[in-house]
Amino acid sequence: MPKLGVNIDHIATLRQARREFDPDPVAAARICEKAGADSIVAHLREDRRHINDHDIRRLRRSIKTRFNLEMSLNDKIIRIARRIRPDEATLVPEKREEITTEGGLDVIRHFSRVAKAVTTLQKSGITVSLFINPARQQIMKAAETGATVIELHTGSYDLAKTIAARKRALKKLSDMTAYARGLGLSVNAGHGLKYHNTRAVARIPGMEELNIGHAIISRAVFVGLAAAVHDMIKIIKGQP
Ligand code: PXP
Repeated sequence: MPKLGVNIDHIATLRQARREFDPDPVAAARICEKAGADSIVAHLREDRRHINDHDIRRLRRSIKTRFNLEMSLNDKIIRIARRIRPDEATLVPEKREEITTEGGLDVIRHFSRVAKAVTTLQKSGITVSLFINPARQQIMKAAETGATVIELHTGSYDLAKTIAARKRALKKLSDMTAYARGLGLSVNAGHGLKYHNTRAVARIPGMEELNIGHAIISRAVFVGLAAAVHDMIKIIKGQP
């Protein structure tokens, strides 16, 4: 059964609507951990639109499970990550104008930059995960960088318009998980996972962790954060 990583970026998005102190992402992380989350994910974006430098310092001190810092290949961000030393760093592509991370990192195109970032972060004792599309060539190159973990982008699965397209996207995720595991990689998945579509991904053999943000924080507005995390864990566990 996969673990659950809760992405708390949108707690900070809400705080930034007023640029004051509430709601506090560190308090949110504590609630998620108490509710059973296996890790906390936060993305320090170059434009600091939600999570900021102060947040990640406080998160590092507070998180008792695992801290997974999402980040781009930007040199300044890499320097910050090496100072903070999250347990894990997930390298993602980043564009200022995008609303959210739009696609996987193109490891083929940016191979030497990615490989250098992987080595640099690993030297600081950080486990590195590469957020990539579920494509064989990308996975093969990801393994060549020396990264030990990949996170498969589930956006195409989430956005599939027909049952047949969703089935195809799910099969791709399943096949690519098996392929990556065969290369010795650990496999996570995330992006766009919701309460109605997560169970099928959680059932993929070899899937290690699902990283979920927007759906959980959205539900939390109505039922509370602990309940929203509990509900997602039940889905991952296949409980009614
Ligand atoms: N994993 C990665 C690498 C992401 O960039 C994001 C979005 O920040 C997520 C998971 C979570 O996506 P969502 O908010 O759609 O659940």
